[in-house]
Amino acid sequence: MNVVLHVNGVAHALELDPRRLLSDVLRHDLGLTGTHVGCEHGVCGCCTVLVAGEPARSCLMLGVQADGAEIRTVEGLAAPDGTPHPLQVAFRRHHGLQCGFCTPGFLMTALTVYRDA
Ligand code: FES
Repeated sequence: MNVVLHVNGVAHALELDPRRLLSDVLRHDLGLTGTHVGCEHGVCGCCTVLVAGEPARSCLMLGVQADGAEIRTVEGLAAPDGTPHPLQVAFRRHHGLQCGFCTPGFLMTALTVYRDA
C-alpha cells in the first residue's frame, strides 16, 4: 500500500506491506533507530512514539494505520541545532536514564505529561 507518513515534520512517501509494523517502518525503512523495540507485544513501552500527538506503542501499530498522521519520535525532541529538549535535560539531571534502552519510550510518554503540565 502507498502511504505518506509525516515523521518529525518530514513527509515520507512509502510503499508498505500492510503487515509491516510501524516500529519496523521507523527503524528499518526510515533509519530512525532511536525508537527501540523490547518486548514486541505492547508491554514494555520502549517503542512508544507520538501519533497525532498521542502516545502509541509502535510495535502494536501497523505502518499503514499511520497513513497521513503526524508522528514524532525521540529524534524529533531536540532542537534543530542539537539543543536537547528540556525533558531530556531533566532526565539527565535527575539520572532518569537507568540503562537507557527504554529511555526513548519513556521520553515520548513523558512528553505528553510535560505538554499538558
Ligand atoms: Fe515493548 Fe513495544 S516493544 S511495548
